[in-house]
Amino acid sequence: MSAPHPQLDAQGNLKHFLTIDGLSRELLVEILDRAEGFLGVAQQAVKKVPLCRGKVIANLFFENSTRTRTTFELAAKRLSADVLNLNISTSATAKGETLLDTLRNLEAMHVDMFVVRHATSGAAHFIAAHANPHVSIINAGDGRHSHPTQGMLDMFTIRRHKPDFTRLRVAIVGDILHSRVARSQILALTTLGVPEIRVIAPRTLLPSHVEDAFGVRAFHDLREGIRDVDVVIMLRIQRERMNSALLPSEHEYFYLFGLTEKRLSVACPDAIVMHPGPINRGVEMDSQVADGSRSVILEQVSNGIAIRMAVMSMCLGTQNLNSQREYTA
Ligand code: CP
Repeated sequence: MSAPHPQLDAQGNLKHFLTIDGLSRELLVEILDRAEGFLGVAQQAVKKVPLCRGKVIANLFFENSTRTRTTFELAAKRLSADVLNLNISTSATAKGETLLDTLRNLEAMHVDMFVVRHATSGAAHFIAAHANPHVSIINAGDGRHSHPTQGMLDMFTIRRHKPDFTRLRVAIVGDILHSRVARSQILALTTLGVPEIRVIAPRTLLPSHVEDAFGVRAFHDLREGIRDVDVVIMLRIQRERMNSALLPSEHEYFYLFGLTEKRLSVACPDAIVMHPGPINRGVEMDSQVADGSRSVILEQVSNGIAIRMAVMSMCLGTQNLNSQREYTA
């Protein structure tokens, strides 16, 4: 008998959301479909559904964030959960309290779910392994390892523009080496049946043996790599995770790998441009592309709320949106 998947409960339902690795296509599609149902909540007079009323969700962000932290908070509030946002810089962590002691103290307040971002790869798995059995853990980004809700909101955004994953060519451009987002995207694209995934970067910003290890095609020339693709995903250069000079200069990087309208012209005419944010304008792409008609970057942010509502409600074992009445004004 195979070992139970660490993210699933005994019935095979999602309990934690730590990585896309090992999750089935059916489960990923269930998350996407459930998120589709949550998109409409933003249009309601009262932007709330009572699915997680009475649940307590704590956001623990040990690393900076704008999009992920705020969309998790909004998602939890739209599900009617009570939300705690621990400010790590003013918390007892600054006095030397360990991660596990912080966890135990918050568990004593009957928290049902922790949303965790941490600079150390594996931090969310560590917390899941030590948390009280009734508590769910969601990984909001751990080191270079995984950012599964970002991967899923990117799949959701792609599917709204290009419904058939099995006909797509997708290019991921930039700092693949340090990117937890790229790892989650590649796992999700592969599981959903995308036949051609390309990674485009200088050799210094690609993991070794990337083609065999990740099942992708590697390119070192931007024009060659994005030719005829349906989706172009640009990544941020992660200076904070580089411990040596892997890049000559940002100016030279833009000259070789920065996305401009002219360079984009070799992709499919209806190709969409994505970026998980934060963007470094003039480094990864110019403003004409970032703010242009093919950019879906701000859609990604909005879709993040629906995806996070889907994942949180599934992990907390709540029923589908259709079985719940919405609040009325
Ligand atoms: N995409 C993303 O993770 O952005 P933040 O760092 O702002 O959360």
